[in-house]
Amino acid sequence: MGRFPEGFLWGGATAANQLEGAYNEGGKGLSIFDMVTFVPKEERGNNIEMDVTSEEELDELLAGKKGDNFPKRRGIDFYHRYKEDIALFAEMGFKTFRLSISWPRIFPNGDEQQPNEEGLAFYDKVFDELANHGIEPLVTLSHYEIPLHLVKKYNGWADRRLVDFFVHYAETVFERYKDKVKYWLTFNEINISTISPYIGSGILVDRVEHKEQAVYQALHHQFVASARAVKACHEIIPDAKIGCMLARMEVYPETCNPDDVLAALEEDQKNLFFTDVQVRGYYPSFMNRYFEENNIKIEMLPGDEEMLRQHTVDFLSFSYYMTMVASGAPDKAKEKGNFFSGIKNPFLEASDWGWQIDPKGLRITLKKLYDRYQVPLFIVENGLGAYDTVEEDGSINDDYRIDYLRAHIEQMGEAIKDGVDLMGYTSWGCIDLISAGTSEMSKRYGFIYVDQDDYGNGTLERRKKKSFEWYKQVIATNGDML
Ligand code: BG6
Repeated sequence: MGRFPEGFLWGGATAANQLEGAYNEGGKGLSIFDMVTFVPKEERGNNIEMDVTSEEELDELLAGKKGDNFPKRRGIDFYHRYKEDIALFAEMGFKTFRLSISWPRIFPNGDEQQPNEEGLAFYDKVFDELANHGIEPLVTLSHYEIPLHLVKKYNGWADRRLVDFFVHYAETVFERYKDKVKYWLTFNEINISTISPYIGSGILVDRVEHKEQAVYQALHHQFVASARAVKACHEIIPDAKIGCMLARMEVYPETCNPDDVLAALEEDQKNLFFTDVQVRGYYPSFMNRYFEENNIKIEMLPGDEEMLRQHTVDFLSFSYYMTMVASGAPDKAKEKGNFFSGIKNPFLEASDWGWQIDPKGLRITLKKLYDRYQVPLFIVENGLGAYDTVEEDGSINDDYRIDYLRAHIEQMGEAIKDGVDLMGYTSWGCIDLISAGTSEMSKRYGFIYVDQDDYGNGTLERRKKKSFEWYKQVIATNGDML
């Protein structure tokens, strides 16, 4: 027997807001990411650009006063080209394809009773096309696509009423696609709100007095909504599996000094807080001190704790791109080594975007998550964002991407040998798409090249990279030939 179990779900991952385009077609309403403009690297530096913080900023963006380059509005036009794209995924042998449903395609404002039939019909066509090719959809309910109206009217998830709106949306799509979709995820990277309250929870921070209070209260609403969605999914689609999704950040101590070890442990706990709630079904006690010291009081309604406890997820999915380093020294200057600020790890190389590459960290992550939770795991994002060059003969020789993926898949194999129950692997951005953090097109992750630049110029033609044939072979041999 090979390293990977039979039925292992190999595939690729995407999100509606970075892929579909057609932001104003088919009755779709605006979403939070439709409002984020492209800012060139010279102006942005190493920062990510995805937060909107005030009503004024939102109005200026809506009025086009901050430029008109909104890359996530155009995506890569999957909305019109899904057949061609799915055929390419099928050619690679995908067993599964991760996509998200754009919430405002189904409920343009988010708080209506009646869904938008045109939006529902679009995903019917996509799921049917996947079924024609024998590809199992893995669907995220919320991947940074909160309807903009919910931000303007309610300040996003800060308002408890969003729980009902979300559950209504979830029930609508479970009912509609119950015969077509068996794998679901509730919130993509639920922990992102602590970094970007706008993208994670639809909160304009200028409207709140105490940012962290608002974020953790919004997260409580999202936990409850997620548990209610799990309940609804199990009732409506008894043979479905539904998971949570975490941006996993393994944290290493900078040295074996106990101060560093403790700092790393505490950083790690803050990351695992989210899955503690969604997998174990209750708030971990270590957060009490954090809440107290930061003057955060979570308002819970009667029944919330029971809902969390009774409707935990079937599996834990996560994204994995890098690891972090923590120091206990209070005055230690923090270098910006990663997506989230942190200390650089001298043992690791970094991508062109400074994301430190750590395949062994993936094995450590898998082992640690499995030790802690004992539920099936699913890697639903991993990959290398890189600049690709199209050679004169039209080829794209992305050996760096193959090396990156090979090293990570090898470590997955080791973790499986270590006893980890791993359901599948969907590499991020299997077809080039718009970057979440920088809105660049030039930060490419795909096996399939898409002819488009950061300004939307290009033919949108699809072209196979060298990694396309490589991944095809990985899947065909169930991970034996890397
Ligand atoms: C994850 C997101 O954070 O990382 C994806 O779930 C995102 O939406 C991916 O695209 C990679 O990040 P970026 O900024 O390189 O697109």
